[in-house]
Amino acid sequence: MKTEILNIDKQSLNKAKNIILSSGLVAFATETVYGLGANALDESAVGSIFIAKGRPQDNPLIVHIGKKEDIFNIVESLNEKAEKLMDKFMPGPITIILKKKDTIPNNVTAGLSNVAVRMPLHEGARAFINECGVPIAAPSANTSKRPSPTDAQSVLEDMDGKIPLILDGGPCEVGIESTVIDLTREVPTILRPGIITKEEIEKVVGKVDVVLSVKDNEKVASPGVKYTHYAPNCEMVMVENNVVEKTKELYDSYNKQGKKPVILCYEETSVKYKGNNIYILGKDDIEASKNFYTDLRKLEKIYDVIIAEAPKKESVGESLYNRMIKSASHKVY
Ligand code: TXA
Ligand code: MG
Repeated sequence: MKTEILNIDKQSLNKAKNIILSSGLVAFATETVYGLGANALDESAVGSIFIAKGRPQDNPLIVHIGKKEDIFNIVESLNEKAEKLMDKFMPGPITIILKKKDTIPNNVTAGLSNVAVRMPLHEGARAFINECGVPIAAPSANTSKRPSPTDAQSVLEDMDGKIPLILDGGPCEVGIESTVIDLTREVPTILRPGIITKEEIEKVVGKVDVVLSVKDNEKVASPGVKYTHYAPNCEMVMVENNVVEKTKELYDSYNKQGKKPVILCYEETSVKYKGNNIYILGKDDIEASKNFYTDLRKLEKIYDVIIAEAPKKESVGESLYNRMIKSASHKVY
């Protein structure tokens, strides 16, 4: 199959709609990362998402809507907290979990009775969903375990020959995936952190819990969190303590082993690594989040080891920390 990349216009949207309505897959830009979309009401189309990504069947998908009222085709009902969060943050980089309607096929939710719903801020994404006229089930458009794609070329890298169309909506503004929050529990619970933080959500609905990591054999709340994730094709480590000293030490030691290392660092500390291979992640956590996945895909092609400076575990930095530690397969210094 030939994979086309098209800018978003009337013609390409029409093409995308025809593909979706005949059970095909279309990758599309959102403000967070690119999604790999299928008609969420079409069980066999949804099945082919899992095949194209090599995604485990027990990891449920997010259903994307283009208009707020479309949520009533997906969930049984809204509770008060859901209404408040939708008013405040939708469209935007947040995904809410509620009890699903029977019309949503079981493979969308991996057999769970709850469904995740998101309305993207990216206008091209909403134009695509609205053009199709059906809810769009979409995970990130990467091969399972790879860094999520934040531009059309990164999608092509993983999906070339597997899907007919990528709608190119430019580079993603946010760069890491949406905040996922379960609203079926007594206390709303964040299952995946994102750029919309716990503190911001608490201002709207009061107390919020966070349940992120799980032990391998425990029953998992958000099945996606148990897998290796976001990993580049080269070795990667993350440095959290004594950062500059430890980073230099690791760099020298990899060099001695005959490996080609690179330091992925913040602008502020970059001057400390003069003479070494460095790559600047950004000036702050917002910029770093935007660049992170694309940087991994760039650096894996040039270097043997990425030594990354850990973000501070607070506010937006916390969600980047959560991705980075997985990219580094939990190798933290
Ligand atoms: O920003 C995003 O959320 C992107 C864009 C494309 O919208 N999508 C995305 O999808 O990141 P994916 O499939 O890569 O991650 C979805 C996460 C997984 O951790 C999954 O386990 C969790 O959401 N999830 C989905 N449905 C769920 C459900 N019913 N209950 C609990 N967790 C759920
Ligand atoms: Mg993903």
